[in-house]
Amino acid sequence: METKIFQPDQIADAARLIQDGQLVAFPTETVYGLGADATNPQAVGQVYQAKGRPSDNPLIVHVSSPAMVAQYAAVIPEKAQQLMDQFWPGSLTIILPIKSGALDPVVTGGLDTVAFRLPDNQVTIDLINQAGVPIVGPSANTSGKPSPTTAQHVYHDLKGKIAGIVDDGPTRVGLESTVIDLWTDHPAILRPGVVTKAAIEAVIGSLTVDHHQVKDNETPKAPGMKYKHYAPNAQVLMVNDDDWDQVKDQLVVGSTGVLATDEHLNQLNLDQSIPTFSLGNDVQSASTHLFAGLRWFDDQPAITTIYAQTFPNQGVGEAYMNRLNKSAGGQFFHGMAK
Ligand code: TXA
Ligand code: MG
Repeated sequence: METKIFQPDQIADAARLIQDGQLVAFPTETVYGLGADATNPQAVGQVYQAKGRPSDNPLIVHVSSPAMVAQYAAVIPEKAQQLMDQFWPGSLTIILPIKSGALDPVVTGGLDTVAFRLPDNQVTIDLINQAGVPIVGPSANTSGKPSPTTAQHVYHDLKGKIAGIVDDGPTRVGLESTVIDLWTDHPAILRPGVVTKAAIEAVIGSLTVDHHQVKDNETPKAPGMKYKHYAPNAQVLMVNDDDWDQVKDQLVVGSTGVLATDEHLNQLNLDQSIPTFSLGNDVQSASTHLFAGLRWFDDQPAITTIYAQTFPNQGVGEAYMNRLNKSAGGQFFHGMAK
């Protein structure tokens, strides 16, 4: 199959493909999603196939308005309404109970809840409106790989497997949305994102955070938590600020790379022959560029170790560290005690 690239002014063509049951990747402010008509079980089934995604890992239903949520959710609790008012369009996904029979179980992995999100991207809001249906969208990467933040990343992973990609340039946020489960006695964040716990608590009161690694014999609250994620080909080692001096001694020309802010890269003053990727100058820009950086090293097959900068685990840093930690399989660079 030929994978067509659509510009934002060609949305009508992309919408027709969605109506036709085909797969079209779409831009959001977080990462690119792999889109299909949420009301067409066959099309949704193909999403899992194209990604190589386990079928018990449910999909987010992207809507173009809160009114669209009401068509598929059994109830919209007041807290959910408050969060939609405050954060939509934006990087918050809200899990609500499903209206009986409103969506095929293939969308929800058989759960009795659905995840909803109104993305902050006008091109995709137009796409949903023109298709006339909500659009499911997991991140548009091969399962297990870093999420795509450009149309080129999507093309790299899914060319020949999907009908089209709507190209709206690099994404602004770079990490996937915060996922919140509101359908429990204790609303919980299942996946941290740039909409922080503090920002949510300012609207609806106190929360628990629940994004631990799920064991094999546990039933996960967010099924995605149990799978390998964001892994480039090379081993990622997380480096705390105090350890960069020692990392410098470990670097091997040809097989190691460094992913860090300009400040650290300048201080390290590395030999030109060591590949480096800049995370910009703070945790915000690091979040935007993390996945692109991990993918950049994948294009250099000789690289077997990537040393990557950590940030304090708070605010946006919580989302950054959640993704970095998974991409590293929890591995830190351990220098010698000083
Ligand atoms: O920013 C994002 O959220 C991107 C863009 C494309 O919108 N999408 C995204 O989708 O990251 P995905 O499928 O890669 O991640 C969705 C997460 C998964 O961890 C999934 O297990 C969880 O949300 N999820 C979806 N529906 C759920 C449900 N009913 N209950 C619990 N977790 C759910
Ligand atoms: Mg994903």
